[in-house]
Amino acid sequence: MNESIDELNLRFWNSSPVDILSWFATGYPGKITFSSSLGAEDQVITHILARNNLNVPIFTLDTGRLFQETYDLMQITEKKYGIRITVFFPDASQVEEMVAEKGINLFYESVENRKLCCHIRKIEPLKRALHGMEVWVTGLRRAQSVTRQDSQLIEWDPSHEMIKVNPLLGWTNDELWGYIEKNNIPVSDLHRKGYPSIGCLPCTRAMQPGEDVRAGRWWWELPQFKECGLHQ
Ligand code: ADX
Ligand code: SF4
Repeated sequence: MNESIDELNLRFWNSSPVDILSWFATGYPGKITFSSSLGAEDQVITHILARNNLNVPIFTLDTGRLFQETYDLMQITEKKYGIRITVFFPDASQVEEMVAEKGINLFYESVENRKLCCHIRKIEPLKRALHGMEVWVTGLRRAQSVTRQDSQLIEWDPSHEMIKVNPLLGWTNDELWGYIEKNNIPVSDLHRKGYPSIGCLPCTRAMQPGEDVRAGRWWWELPQFKECGLHQ
């Protein structure tokens, strides 16, 4: 890469997600990958990648505790776009050891337990998924929560030592849902049931009126703790 992260942000501050993704897909062949949770933002990125034939493989982390709706959407998306989403699973022996020691629903008992579960079910598989890559594309948006206010369109991710590209970072909820409707993008049934942000089933509930969009994630914890380690 010849340009610094600051220079890349200046170059792309007013660019469309299509332009940003095309530039990185061309510049980093075989070294770029996109993590999709099958959330609304991720579905937009999948649509852009597929419809523009961009060579960016898509992976998802199946924690083993996802909603049935997420698996259904995975299949619908693969069929619609003629793609395969690579699924990374947690290491079975680590899950078995954790559950034997702390119980099957350990995450409700402490932030520490919850972070351990996220580590084993998401972070370790993520490390494998990102291994050998130089650019990681995500669907992060600033409007999602207080913990995401300082995110950048293009950032250096120190824990994975790679460039992270968040092409929808500045999108508002209206922009997101307008684009989905206009382009007829398949999204999870859970969104219309009041779940703007979808993670694992036991750790996600519907949003109450007036709450921020990630309020339903780990709802029993304080907002400043509510990252699983994927992004911080
Ligand atoms: S999380 O950190 O709270 O779980 P969130 O659900 O907001 O993240 O999603 C933000 C971005 O993280 C997504 O756009 C996606 O790039 C990535 N991500 C989150 N969960 C997963 C998952 N299960 N598999 C792959 N990517 C994920
Ligand atoms: Fe475990 Fe909940 Fe984290 Fe999913 S979100 S990995 S179930 S603690």
